[in-house]
Amino acid sequence: MTQLTASIIGGSGYAGGELVRLLLMHPNIELTQVTSERQAGKFVKTTHPNLREVTNLKFIASADLKPTDLLFLALPHGVSMEKLPQVRDLAPVVIDLSSDFRLNNPGDYDVWYGHQHNDLEALGNFVYGMPELHREEISTADWIASPGCMSTTSILGLYPLFRAGVVDTSLPTIIEAKTGSSGSGGAPSLSSHHAERSGVIRSFKPTGHRHTAEIVQELTFADVAPNVSFSATSIEAVRGILATSHVFLNEDLDDKALRKIYREAYKDEPFMRLVKETAGVHRYPEPKLLSGSNWCDVGFERDPHSRRVVVMAATDNLMKGAAGQAVQAMNIRMGFGERTGLEFPGLHPI
Ligand SMILES: NC(=O)c1ccc[n+]([C@@H]2O[C@H](COP(=O)([O-])OP(=O)(O)OC[C@H]3O[C@@H](n4cnc5c(N)ncnc54)[C@H](OP(=O)(O)O)[C@@H]3O)[C@@H](O)[C@H]2O)c1
Repeated sequence: MTQLTASIIGGSGYAGGELVRLLLMHPNIELTQVTSERQAGKFVKTTHPNLREVTNLKFIASADLKPTDLLFLALPHGVSMEKLPQVRDLAPVVIDLSSDFRLNNPGDYDVWYGHQHNDLEALGNFVYGMPELHREEISTADWIASPGCMSTTSILGLYPLFRAGVVDTSLPTIIEAKTGSSGSGGAPSLSSHHAERSGVIRSFKPTGHRHTAEIVQELTFADVAPNVSFSATSIEAVRGILATSHVFLNEDLDDKALRKIYREAYKDEPFMRLVKETAGVHRYPEPKLLSGSNWCDVGFERDPHSRRVVVMAATDNLMKGAAGQAVQAMNIRMGFGERTGLEFPGLHPI
């Protein structure tokens, strides 16, 4: 069995910690190095106690990294861009989980991130690491930009409809994404302080969310950009995203025709499920059922009174929204089975 070494820069964070968990269990991977500047010298399991008795690895400083077959960056946006020139020669394949290399148009960084991109050459060499949309490019890419969590969930919900050309792009597509607290990372802040966060249903980015740029980029077909309005809301959960999208059809398609569109787009996808039951409690996608898993569940309902379709998509933000999707892309790039190390379902009940 092929055995490759992997290393993670930024392994003390939430996305990095999830990568550690996945890569330690991956049959083709030996995780050899995990960095943290603040925790260097300390056991990884001290920061990620779910890994007690699973690993005795210690964090190292990124300056002490040795060459490796695969290098994952799980650093804040802006930091990855600065780090890449120092570490790019350590590994033939680099997978970055930040937003620094996701956008094809450098001008989008000015618009959505408020700064110019400082490494246009590198930006041009990254492939957007969403397997359902870019599997072929990922299979030969040496640099992969893993997508954002709310963008992943929104795009995967809407992609079949835009791909099929059945959306009225003259009308807005409105996406409301609900997210748990781990989506903003492990660094403490007033908004994540328990007394301020617990029990919350809080609009934190009604307009101007940066993930809008990825959604527009990936749902543009035949040079027609979608008319996307995106809002984000924090809810009472640690993991999980539910993206509810309101989209208007350009023709009068019934439920059966819409099912066919979704089935055609996702029938061979290893981590996509159409969830649309007619009875019971769990009729539509629910992020809680996906906790710890790499699935993205998608469902929809046709509004009988208009041409609106309400699309529901759910993920675990740290899995399909981050580390799981990055491992899926790694599997594609390295020629491993795409489900390898990711086959487990979520938990129920939780
Ligand atoms: N959380 C999610 O659901 C999610 C989903 C998709 C993508 N992402 C992306 O994944 C990346 C990591 O997110 P996260 O949620 O894991 O954040 P996090 O919990 O805050 O972790 C950030 C990591 O970066 C390291 N770090 C911070 N500043 C650094 C610097 N200047 N130099 C070197 N290392 C530095 C931290 O380690 P030390 O300070 O210990 O060195 C820590 O390991 C972000 O770009 C985020 O956008 C996150």
